[in-house]
Amino acid sequence: MSDKYYILTFGCQMNENDSEHIAGILTEKGYERTDNVREATVAVINTCSIRENADDKFFGNLGDLKGVKRENPNMILCVCGCMMQQQIFVDRIREKFPYVDIIFGTHNIADFGNLLDEFLESRKKIVRIMDSSPVIEGVPLRREYRHRAYVSITYGCDNFCTYCIVPYTRGREKSREADDIISEVKCLAEDGVKEIMLLGQNVNSYGKGLKEPCSFAELLRRVSEVEGLERIRFMTSHPRDFSDDIIDAMASSDKICKSVHLPFQAGSDRILKLMNRHYDRAYYLGLVKKLRERIPGITISTDIIVGFPTETEEDFEDTLDIVRECRFESAFTFIYSPREGTKAASMEGQIDHETCSRRFKKLVAALEEEIAEGVIVYQDSVQEVIVDGRSKSDENTLTGRTRSNKLVNFTGTASMGDTVNVKITKANTYYLYGEQI
Ligand code: SAH
Ligand code: SF4
Ligand code: F3S
Repeated sequence: MSDKYYILTFGCQMNENDSEHIAGILTEKGYERTDNVREATVAVINTCSIRENADDKFFGNLGDLKGVKRENPNMILCVCGCMMQQQIFVDRIREKFPYVDIIFGTHNIADFGNLLDEFLESRKKIVRIMDSSPVIEGVPLRREYRHRAYVSITYGCDNFCTYCIVPYTRGREKSREADDIISEVKCLAEDGVKEIMLLGQNVNSYGKGLKEPCSFAELLRRVSEVEGLERIRFMTSHPRDFSDDIIDAMASSDKICKSVHLPFQAGSDRILKLMNRHYDRAYYLGLVKKLRERIPGITISTDIIVGFPTETEEDFEDTLDIVRECRFESAFTFIYSPREGTKAASMEGQIDHETCSRRFKKLVAALEEEIAEGVIVYQDSVQEVIVDGRSKSDENTLTGRTRSNKLVNFTGTASMGDTVNVKITKANTYYLYGEQI
């Protein structure tokens, strides 16, 4: 029987994609995957540091692993991801969680196999964290799904939004050569993948520093020429860099899903400036209008932060106004969380928790109202759905996504990866319900 590995992933799709590489490296070494950490010879926790509650969850989890490690002292416990790019967390682990064997950073993923070998040989703790790395191609990868796949196109971020830790944990923005991306996409399509998600913190600015110049719009055009793909998605889009050329590329290909994730973060010009977002409210509203005009039926989702330092009731009302004006398909909402080392963390005028949570509730209520009205268009419609599998809560229900990325639970006989038509019988705020036709 082969040894097993277990991976727990926190955070965004970049981390999920990194975990797929870690899984690929371990698979090549002959390990098999398990979802039960007690069976594992190698356990990896891939951390996220975007908000304080992400840090807290991780430390809770690491504490729980103490017992597992006591039962099975030979288990090799590894911790990686965005938290490890911050010295305070590395110090805290070494002090309070001495049973962690290997600590490595976001720039050391490709080297993980060697770190493991090194540890197996010496049985000495390893801490390996680099501040940056060039783009590395050809790292093994084990995909989470057969029918859909992530494809990273950029790494890191240069935007330095003042609240955000990502530029510190992921380093400077780097783009993969378009040819490398296209060959990966071709391989995926040949392997039966129907849907790909192009990933980057800010995909719209793709192309910096390439040997062969290529813009994001050009890349989209090239990707949509790959045979066999049914759906192309991308995230995240920074409003500032959403060029007309990108809109044209989207409009010109049926394969590119007519949905965008376009975080606006805050509705007040004063707060947007303090956040260093490089656009104002009028620009954002104009962009949404243009997208809706040029790409009829487009759905737009967003991210919103409440309680950024100095946010007044009036600023917050501006955020609510955008919610009312834009008819978002869905939204991720966050209470501002100060991140050590970022500019906003040391700004005057931090907002108290009570005010934040009051505004947060009000925002969620406004969104739910808007989304509930928006989803009426789905009622009794027929939607093309790619099946992701069976619903976690009910074995008899299938689950999948529409082209607009809406979650659909439905009854039917299809299998994972099938593309089917579903008649929508009920449209809830967070998911649709229907029957396969
Ligand atoms: N690169 C993407 C998003 C990365 S993080 C973009 O620029 O849109 C995902 C979301 O987390 C952000 O859009 C933001 O809304 C939220 N976020 C980031 N830092 C945060 C912080 N310190 N407190 C609260 N929310 C935060
Ligand atoms: Fe963070 Fe802004 Fe970069 Fe997004 S664009 S990762 S919010 S710094
Ligand atoms: Fe978290 Fe790092 Fe992603 S901080 S959101 S895992 S880039």
